[in-house]
Amino acid sequence: MAFLPDMSVDIGGLKIKNPVITASGTFGYGDELTHFYDPSLLGAIIVKGLSLRPMPGNPPPRVVETPCGLLNAIGLANIGIEAFIREKLPSLVKIKTPIITNIYGHSIKQYAEMAKKIEKVDRIAAIEINISCPNIEEGGMAFGTDPDTAAMVTDQVVKNTTKPVIVKLTPNVTDITIIARAVESAGAQAISVTNTFLGMAVDVSARRPKLANTTGGLSGPAIKPIALYLVHKVVEAVRIPVIGLGGIMDYKDALEFLIVGARAIQVGTANLINPKTAIQIINDLTDFCLSEKISNINQIIGDLKMGGEGHEKKGDRKDK
Ligand SMILES: Cc1cc2nc3c(=O)[nH]c(=O)nc-3n(C[C@H](O)[C@H](O)[C@H](O)COP(=O)(O)O)c2cc1C
Repeated sequence: MAFLPDMSVDIGGLKIKNPVITASGTFGYGDELTHFYDPSLLGAIIVKGLSLRPMPGNPPPRVVETPCGLLNAIGLANIGIEAFIREKLPSLVKIKTPIITNIYGHSIKQYAEMAKKIEKVDRIAAIEINISCPNIEEGGMAFGTDPDTAAMVTDQVVKNTTKPVIVKLTPNVTDITIIARAVESAGAQAISVTNTFLGMAVDVSARRPKLANTTGGLSGPAIKPIALYLVHKVVEAVRIPVIGLGGIMDYKDALEFLIVGARAIQVGTANLINPKTAIQIINDLTDFCLSEKISNINQIIGDLKMGGEGHEKKGDRKDK
């Protein structure tokens, strides 16, 4: 009889039954894809980015397809934290998996206020702080590009909640490890790497940007090798768990992130192409463990072999 591998992982005190999480902004408020599969099967669900007050977001067009990628400039359209707690959360009670709220504010005070509101809600298991959105004029990515500001936001959220705090970093910086260390020192329990990469597309006939916002955030398979590299760098720079994401389309992509040391992974743009991707990845990862006789998924995490012919040993070379 085949054994069933233990797929559970711990991300900063939040124990989840498998390492597959749906990424913020690609899975609605957690209740929209219930007719495709039972969301209780997921490791966790991260809901759409929430702000203190409702936000209309940017004007359309807000999404453009690019080769192997998607450019979006949604601008964090959302119903606001209070309406989420009042109107959306009750229907999520039947989903037996942790719900993580993704929050962003226009000021450090707003982040702190949101943490206080979330603290009172049992159903919310953890907070992912978005200090990395490229599509809003004020706040968003600005908080994630300066180590002191990133640390201050983290500190204020951590001080106002007992729930695990995950900080989601932007890749749009010179050295992501500086920001990663800053938020770790400020008390973050985990880090998500990465949000989208700034990009743009032009309509050559109209000679206008394709997005009304001019620029947007690039996601999807086009960013996977860069996201993987950033995860590798951050894993080496901090001691807290790292959640990897960026262009994960199938279980092999997920395995690459786990092998470089991501404790869990998130599925984003792939949900928009095939809403069942995350479930497929869970099933395929389980089958992979079975076929490789791996009894615990943690055996794969960080199992990157360095050294040997054609490879430098870990620590041999420091990127300049
Ligand atoms: C349409 C769309 C909306 C998004 N909204 C959010 C958001 O509200 N908050 C956030 O932190 N990230 C948001 N993201 C970023 C994703 O969560 C993820 O970090 C990014 O897309 C990279 O992963 P992927 O290549 O798997 O999509 C959004 C991405 C897309 C495509």
